[in-house]
Amino acid sequence: MGTERVKVTVGVAGGIAAYKSVELVRLLQNAGLDPHVIMTRAAEEFIRPLTFAGISGHNVITSLWNERAGAGAEAEEGAVSPMEHINEAQTTRLLVVAPATADILGKFAHGLADDFLTTMFLATSAPVIVAPSMNVNMWQHPAVQANLATLRARGVRVVEPGSGYLACGMVGGGRLAEPAEIAAAVAEVLAQAADASGKDDLAGETMLVTAGGTREAIDPVRFIGNRSSGRMGYAIAEAARKRGAHVILISAPTVLPAPAGCEVIPVVTAGEMRQAVIERLPEASIVVMAAAVSDYRVKDVAEQKLKRTGTRTLELEPTEDILAEVSSRRSPGTLVIGFAAETEHIVANALAKLDRKGIDAIVANDVSSAETGFDSERNAGSFLTRNGAVELPTMSKTEMASRILDQIAHMRTAIRSR
Ligand code: CTP
Repeated sequence: MGTERVKVTVGVAGGIAAYKSVELVRLLQNAGLDPHVIMTRAAEEFIRPLTFAGISGHNVITSLWNERAGAGAEAEEGAVSPMEHINEAQTTRLLVVAPATADILGKFAHGLADDFLTTMFLATSAPVIVAPSMNVNMWQHPAVQANLATLRARGVRVVEPGSGYLACGMVGGGRLAEPAEIAAAVAEVLAQAADASGKDDLAGETMLVTAGGTREAIDPVRFIGNRSSGRMGYAIAEAARKRGAHVILISAPTVLPAPAGCEVIPVVTAGEMRQAVIERLPEASIVVMAAAVSDYRVKDVAEQKLKRTGTRTLELEPTEDILAEVSSRRSPGTLVIGFAAETEHIVANALAKLDRKGIDAIVANDVSSAETGFDSERNAGSFLTRNGAVELPTMSKTEMASRILDQIAHMRTAIRSR
């Protein structure tokens, strides 16, 4: 199998130059990219979505709302699920808006979000390019220039309009740059982004990561928890995103900030984590279970705060083994990687776990030492598969995340080229 094409999003706003974006989409496709098109309501006045759908081979998104989805009917053309703008924002590698009207520039600059394109602009961490197009007086208006200055200062790349004959009959600045020039800017910005992240070997992958330590209630104020900080899982999620993966991070409570560009789903208990994982599993090509999941929950959780009354016994019942379930329910080709927190016979215990759970690889951690393991900045262990072991000597969790992803990327390449 060849390498997957890089997904880019083309936003088309309502300007007379909208027809030129057809050529832009074609050029992006010729350059080996996978363009997806979003149109604003006004753009549809100038050009039909079908034109773009025909060239790009994808449905064109024209609305934030899927009015008919609730009725159980087929989705209306161009309408999408309520979270699609987030999905689009996180899976695309670049957003290019051509033509960018005065209205769109103003909305982008001021953070207004009243349709799919403007909402996605706020939600994406991918680089953004705008190619303005408008009447010369509008172009020269201080309000438009101030909005552009704001966007430039925030890292948005502007492909300057040219001068010439304008649709309004005037001659001057404001004419959309040539599609070839916009396509060249796309290629340049993508190359810069790839350099900045160094590696791009997880592009096209969707990685589901669990992290943190689950909590099981005893009563309304107390819980059974563990010492997991969530650092290892968060480091993996963040690094995977930088290497091009779309990351779904299902996180038990931690004090860590959400890693940029990852979709974070907060959960508390093992049961909630299981539900979230099973729900999102069909999307995942890689699953990394770094969470410390409670093996037991309290059988009868007290409704009121327990009072001190001498000796107490808590009856515990086992929770579901999420990893084992994921392993048996995954679709063919999905890689499943677990963690094994061990205090003795580390490699032997971890290998037994790998077999018992039917997974592809396991990161064995020695959690008996204070320097590494739970709630520390550093970690040590080994990456074990049925074919062998890679030692991971004591290093920072960020570095370890990158070493683990090296192994995972190798395994994915092997699967894809089968
Ligand atoms: N795990 C899970 N669901 C559970 C318990 C653990 O998915 N209920 C996952 C963890 O996220 C980790 C792996 O299983 O990736 C191993 O966790 P660990 O606690 O070391 O193993 P257990 O299966 O609980 O085995 P034991 O406690 O007997 O060592």
